[in-house]
Amino acid sequence: MALVTTKEMFAKALDKDYAVGAFNVNNMEIIQGIVEAAQEENAPLILQVSAGARKYAKPIYLTKLVEAAIADTGLDICLHLDHGEDFDICKKCVDDGFTSVMIDGSKHEFEENIRLTKEVVEYAHAHGVVVEAELGKLAGVEDNIKVDARNATFTVPEEAAEFVARTGVDSLAVAIGTSHGAYKFKGTPYLDFERLEEIHKLIPDTPLVLHGASTVLPEFVARCNEYGGNIPGAQGVPEDMILEAVKHGVCKVNIDTDLRLAMTAEIRRHFIEHPEDFDPRKYLGPARDAIKRMVQHKIRNVLNASGQR
Ligand code: G3H
Ligand code: 13P
Ligand code: ZN
Repeated sequence: MALVTTKEMFAKALDKDYAVGAFNVNNMEIIQGIVEAAQEENAPLILQVSAGARKYAKPIYLTKLVEAAIADTGLDICLHLDHGEDFDICKKCVDDGFTSVMIDGSKHEFEENIRLTKEVVEYAHAHGVVVEAELGKLAGVEDNIKVDARNATFTVPEEAAEFVARTGVDSLAVAIGTSHGAYKFKGTPYLDFERLEEIHKLIPDTPLVLHGASTVLPEFVARCNEYGGNIPGAQGVPEDMILEAVKHGVCKVNIDTDLRLAMTAEIRRHFIEHPEDFDPRKYLGPARDAIKRMVQHKIRNVLNASGQR
């Protein structure tokens, strides 16, 4: 039981048709719900922290909570920085004991993305930490129908091969049609599996990462709305599409929005049914259970990762 890098996890996942879930964490209840699910499912696990989460919780709290989760459960867990935007935050996380960092240079031009990624890879590798980078831009809702926009923003397979060779990065996040948040598609969901297959063919040993992979289950949106929420038109990536992506080299699947929905739906329900409550444990406890159920569902039915630890 330890904080581990993704090296072994990804080597195993690349070989088989499953992916490691990378779940965003912001507080104790979220961490506890996720690790309980991973423990019961005997599944590999990545806990990821965004810059926003670091700011919200203060860096030391999340690191210590993850260390506590490892001591409590005996799991091996990878602690990962999600969407590091510059060298400085990646360095801070390496120095704080993270075992994996993402340098997200996707907003930069190709050459600048390579330069920045190389700088992070050099520092991280010297400290035994692995690096995820991103090439291509995740789609916005409005992009999903226009072929031109797709070609301009999605990851270009030949560029992905060059990028990996020149940076020495350990894994690569690709843009094939997913996007962050609860509004991923306006019309019919579309992921560019041909492109994904091409990328995987060119760099078969590089674990690929799918951001924006929440499935935004209608049941949870409906539950939020039933209890006073207002989330019209939400639409995620269908579960079978994630399972398909996992067959083409995707080893890491990022999930945040679905946890937010599960937690919020439960808290809303609690206050509608028990307006007299003011003890945070009364609603955060059930919210933690809701996170656990959601993560178990993901591990079993979307990531195919049960028993793969
Ligand atoms: O991809 C972004 C994650 O969902 C984290 O979101 O920056 O609001 O913490 P955040
Ligand atoms: P979702 O918004 O689809 O959960 O994606 C999360 C993510 O990609 C975190 O990096
Ligand atoms: Zn992301």
